[in-house]
Amino acid sequence: MLKGKTLAVVGVGKLGEALISGLLKNSELTTKDVCGSVGKSASVERVEKKLGIKVSQDNRATIADKDVILLAVKPQNMDRVLKELKDVITEKQLVISVAASVTTSFVQERLNDNVAVVRAMPNTPSIINAGMAGLCGGSHAKEDQLAVAEAIFKCVGETVFVDESLMDAVTALSASGPAYLYVVIESLAEAGVKLGIARETATLLAAQTMYGAAKMVLDSKSHPAMLKDTVTTPAGCTIDGLMELEEGKLRVTLIKAVVKAAERARELVNTQTQTYK
Ligand SMILES: NC(=O)c1ccc[n+]([C@@H]2O[C@H](COP(=O)([O-])OP(=O)(O)OC[C@H]3O[C@@H](n4cnc5c(N)ncnc54)[C@H](OP(=O)(O)O)[C@@H]3O)[C@@H](O)[C@H]2O)c1
Repeated sequence: MLKGKTLAVVGVGKLGEALISGLLKNSELTTKDVCGSVGKSASVERVEKKLGIKVSQDNRATIADKDVILLAVKPQNMDRVLKELKDVITEKQLVISVAASVTTSFVQERLNDNVAVVRAMPNTPSIINAGMAGLCGGSHAKEDQLAVAEAIFKCVGETVFVDESLMDAVTALSASGPAYLYVVIESLAEAGVKLGIARETATLLAAQTMYGAAKMVLDSKSHPAMLKDTVTTPAGCTIDGLMELEEGKLRVTLIKAVVKAAERARELVNTQTQTYK
């Protein structure tokens, strides 16, 4: 699917780097097929050395004639960057934006309106090929272009297509999600430390347990509640731990955290639109 394609990544920061290194490891793309741009001159050499691709500060030259353009600058830089690229992008190119909160129509309005745009919301575990990306197409994205976008993110993890109205929810759940789960791992490890386990061992116990539980859900396709029941012996110790979680309102706290982050993602759209219109 990606063989023979060329890719330009505008904004090779944390996420851009994660995606490029995953693509170079897991797709037909080589360092000759991929190039990127950055904001600061100091970043050029650093990123070139790290990824082995050509990097510059010239966004227009970077994207010229490339088949796929992946926009990975901060949401607040999108307006400026899109206006800069407007007269270089052609209808033959596919534009993929990973900027949180930035809608496909926001991108289309600032480029030639017929350009095919795909909005994607990946996450940082993409760097270890365990990413999760939500995708949706803009009004001009054709099936084959959606398939190219899907192939890119499949190289670094799982993908799912959703309606664009759900992209802020995807942002709050799976893009912000690793941060919530790191807190859970850290807290479980702290518990181990409290009970006398060395921190390094406690962190391994906590992280491998979360990995195993996630893999059980994915591989067995069982409802998480059923899997929980298989661990919970009547009158055993797990039920006492679960009761503490209920009393501490873990479930409702996680639900509220994701809902709050999604609200913030929606607010960002309005802030940007007002600022940049
Ligand atoms: N991090 C995540 O987990 C995550 C997940 C999903 C989506 N996203 C989205 O991905 C985007 C990037 O996030 P990030 O965490 O990777 O941020 P980041 O590390 O700050 O990366 C931003 C990149 O953009 C570059 N840049 C700044 N101004 C530029 C310009 N005018 N032209 C070209 N490049 C420019 C920066 O270069 P310098 O460093 O040289 O200034 C940097 O390489 C955001 O829109 C975010 O919403 C991030």
